[in-house]
Amino acid sequence: MTESAFWLTFPKLSADMRTGYRLMLELNHSYNMDCMQGMAQFPDGYFDLAVVDPPYGGAGNTFKCSDKTRFGGRFDRYRSTSPAVQNLAGGYSITRTGGAWAAKYGKKIIAWDNAPRPEYFDELFRVSKQQIIWGGNYFDLPPCRCFLIWNKPNIPTDFTMAQCEFAWCSLNENAKLISLSSTRSKDAKHWHPTEKPIGLYDWIFRLFCHPGDKILDTHLGSGNSRKAAYDAGLDFIGFEVDPEYYAKGCADFDAYAAQQSLFRQAAAESAGEQLCLL
Ligand SMILES: C[S@@+](CC[C@H](N)C(=O)[O-])C[C@H]1O[C@@H](n2cnc3c(N)ncnc32)[C@H](O)[C@@H]1O
Repeated sequence: MTESAFWLTFPKLSADMRTGYRLMLELNHSYNMDCMQGMAQFPDGYFDLAVVDPPYGGAGNTFKCSDKTRFGGRFDRYRSTSPAVQNLAGGYSITRTGGAWAAKYGKKIIAWDNAPRPEYFDELFRVSKQQIIWGGNYFDLPPCRCFLIWNKPNIPTDFTMAQCEFAWCSLNENAKLISLSSTRSKDAKHWHPTEKPIGLYDWIFRLFCHPGDKILDTHLGSGNSRKAAYDAGLDFIGFEVDPEYYAKGCADFDAYAAQQSLFRQAAAESAGEQLCLL
């Protein structure tokens, strides 16, 4: 039985009972399962760093909150009077544009674009020692000293996409900024609507990780975090709930790892040849 089939069959197992099944999950794998079920498998503080990018519920032009207390009840001025928006859990509405992007991916995104409940953050902070949370500006998180900004120099001010993204960060460091184009290269296959570049994860892992660290990504999406962790030699676990994204992410990762291992082999051989010439 696969992990996802297991949890579909036994959805009501308590967290304590689930711990009996911890051995099912291994490091350096990704899993097609809900991250809440995934995290329940791990003891407190198991991961050194969680780098996560949860949905914040903005597709379809409205914020679809899975919990009314998402903003701690402090932002009721954002509660919509529109019956359509009121029907969505929470009923908060901050219009966003989206243009061609939303038209292309809208239906699929709406299926998974639910902001996590507060329990998600409790569980995330339980299983990991440090956390980097992309889109942290949309969640009710404590004050932070360190935050990360991904500046997208390719996006003009009047364009319908954000010029930068914010990550909430638990580390006691100075805030950091990276400028990295969000333009996707034409030669690579891109299929995930909210894919973040591998270079962004490379940067994070180089800044904050040490050899032997265990990394968690609760919302894998394209799986670029997994590729960057592989390059950095870090131990990694990722969860992705959507079967189609999961399958594509696994295929991409296998192809990437095979290519990287060829590069490494060629580099080792060329270093060996140079040594012989000396
Ligand atoms: C914002 S995207 C992440 C994009 C990712 N950072 C990347 O670089 O491709 C969020 C992803 O989380 C997945 N997802 C949504 N709810 C989930 C859950 N409860 N558990 C695991 N994955 C979930 C969605 O299917 C989507 O692929």
